[in-house]
Amino acid sequence: MDRRDFLKNSASAALTGAAMTIPGIGAIGAQKPGEEEKIPSDGIAHRLKYNKNGKIKIVQFTDTHYVSGDPDSERALKTVMQTLDAEMPDFVIHTGDIVFGKPAGQSAKEILQPLVDRRIPFAVAMGNHDSDFDLSRTEMFKVLRSIPGNVNTVDDDGISGCSNDIITISGSKGVDRILYLFDSGNRAEVGGVSGWGYVHQDQVAWYKNHSREFTKANGGKPVPSVAFFHIPVPEYNEALRDPSKVLMGNIGEEPCSPSVNSGLYLAMREMGDVQAIVTGHDHNDDFVMKWRDFFFIYGRFSGCDTVYNDLKPNGARVFEFKEGDDGFRTWVRLYGGKIEQDLYLYPGMKNLTSPRE
Ligand SMILES: [Fe+2]
Repeated sequence: MDRRDFLKNSASAALTGAAMTIPGIGAIGAQKPGEEEKIPSDGIAHRLKYNKNGKIKIVQFTDTHYVSGDPDSERALKTVMQTLDAEMPDFVIHTGDIVFGKPAGQSAKEILQPLVDRRIPFAVAMGNHDSDFDLSRTEMFKVLRSIPGNVNTVDDDGISGCSNDIITISGSKGVDRILYLFDSGNRAEVGGVSGWGYVHQDQVAWYKNHSREFTKANGGKPVPSVAFFHIPVPEYNEALRDPSKVLMGNIGEEPCSPSVNSGLYLAMREMGDVQAIVTGHDHNDDFVMKWRDFFFIYGRFSGCDTVYNDLKPNGARVFEFKEGDDGFRTWVRLYGGKIEQDLYLYPGMKNLTSPRE
């Protein structure tokens, strides 16, 4: 049993706290019959538009590890509420490990209820632990999709995983930026392969197909894109070992990436559109790392004490995109309000402390 499994089992055994009362929980989750069959014909899950100032703000929560009724989860819920009230984002992406115990469906509804209350649309990229409890991955995804404001779609082409989705951001001249979400799975399931889950080769092909179409529609120019998923790719480790990388933020543990490389990073470099990968999974890491003109980014652990976490306090990462700008801003907002790693990232930048503007 590794550290994570030990922690998981410990947390599961400790779910004896008094239930927290979350107003409105009973009222959500009413999925319309047949709704899960609706699939956007062009594969786009959601179309975001820049606001009147030409900007859009997205909050990334990750690893909330929420357990309904467990007092150790209380601050995770407070963090979600506090972050939303401070940042007032246009959209939220949760990069997985949303829950950490039974009942998984109810736990997911409770930790995402602050989004429902504030009418903020959101998408999820499922984490390994989201299918570790009383619901299968497909069942959990169905619950997540039933929560008002969720924009994830049911995969229409039979590729691996659940939460593979595309979100576009458009301005006055059409699609200006793309966000790709992937399901990086739970554990490797192929015979002869062990370790953490990964983005499978059929998902990589799915991404490349869509990327090619977007580039074609953009007159042959790749559309600046950012990818969100749970488990970091092996290049996080390779980049960390390379003295040429530039890094800001906390490195509290070795990235727990898969034992195999399924070629996602290579595909992104071949297509030339994705500028940054954003993950969760490793609770003690929250850094931004530039390596070979690409950004490897961790979210800030948003959970509480149901699982290991040495970065105190918890928090969330924020992204701000601007119309017509191939760069973007990102920062970490900590529980309590402090902001760290306020960065402006753009192609060709030399280090992480010299913003272009
Ligand atoms: Fe986690």
